[in-house]
Amino acid sequence: MTAPLAGRDFLKLLDFSPEEITYLIDLSADLKAKKKAGEPHRYHEGKNIVLLFEKTSTRTRCAFEVGAMDLGMGVTYLDPGASQMGKKESIEDTARVLSRMYDGIEYRGFAQEKVETLAEYSSVPVWNGLTTEAHPTQMIADMLTIREHLGELRGLNLTFFGDAQNNVANSLMVACAKLGVNFTACGPKEQMPEASLVETCTQIAQEQGSTVRLTEDVAEGARGAHVLYTDIWVSMGEPDDIWAERIRLLEPYRVTEELMALAAPNAIFMHCLPSFHDTKTTVGAEIAAMFGIEEMEVADSVFEGPQSVVFDEAENRMHTIKAVMHATLL
Ligand code: CP
Ligand code: NVA
Repeated sequence: MTAPLAGRDFLKLLDFSPEEITYLIDLSADLKAKKKAGEPHRYHEGKNIVLLFEKTSTRTRCAFEVGAMDLGMGVTYLDPGASQMGKKESIEDTARVLSRMYDGIEYRGFAQEKVETLAEYSSVPVWNGLTTEAHPTQMIADMLTIREHLGELRGLNLTFFGDAQNNVANSLMVACAKLGVNFTACGPKEQMPEASLVETCTQIAQEQGSTVRLTEDVAEGARGAHVLYTDIWVSMGEPDDIWAERIRLLEPYRVTEELMALAAPNAIFMHCLPSFHDTKTTVGAEIAAMFGIEEMEVADSVFEGPQSVVFDEAENRMHTIKAVMHATLL
């Protein structure tokens, strides 16, 4: 039987129906169970995929590589300096060349428009591994993780704290709307999601019986939340000189034990990672030296605490990216 999503690109969640997203989450759970049981699932033996990364990555790259290898495929990784793309060859030409050699193309980079062009000119499925605007593969992992910990998704309350206009927050708003999860963006007015996306998501949420809410009030954001989610304050590709401004704006939105105490009793803490929850990174240490703060978007005690599911979430990147590839490959 041909998979219902065979031949489709995976560029943004707005392109998929709630049923299709649920299908991908179910497929991920199935592939995860097979992996845990040691059951081989080399469904794509003899195929090859290419990974184009214009930004750095740990989880997404490794998830695509391990997922592809588990499915029996070969993998080529091209880092920012290693291909002709951009400098000497257009995206359009790159897409047509890679389509002649590979069965699928992953892209992580800057403007969403770029991955959309890549897909337009490619004759094989293209997967978005993160752009400035969206991070759709992260969402399948996040929704699987929430379902594993809290059961059904529909009717839950998820609040994103901090830079509510970044790729992860945008994609969470769409994912929640599509799956009937009540979404709250909790941050300063300067960092709220774009009005047109809020409007689109509000309409989708209404159809699904859920809500989209924006608030600057941290207590309001935390009260009754089942999922408290945050991400770094300055995303890849943003200039270093905005740190001071972001710290000023976003420090009140750090996820702390006090915030967790306002949430639902069974609440979980989530983060796409990487996270600045201590000073054990170069950037974390620099920020501590310059601004005197030792933890940024989340308190170390929450990150390391019993409600944190961040490493389950990270593991699920692999099972879910494998599902996205399996479902869309021809
Ligand atoms: N969450 C995520 O996309 O992680 P990487 O940047 O390590 O891929
Ligand atoms: N918002 C972050 C997500 C990293 C996975 C970034 O774009 O850097």
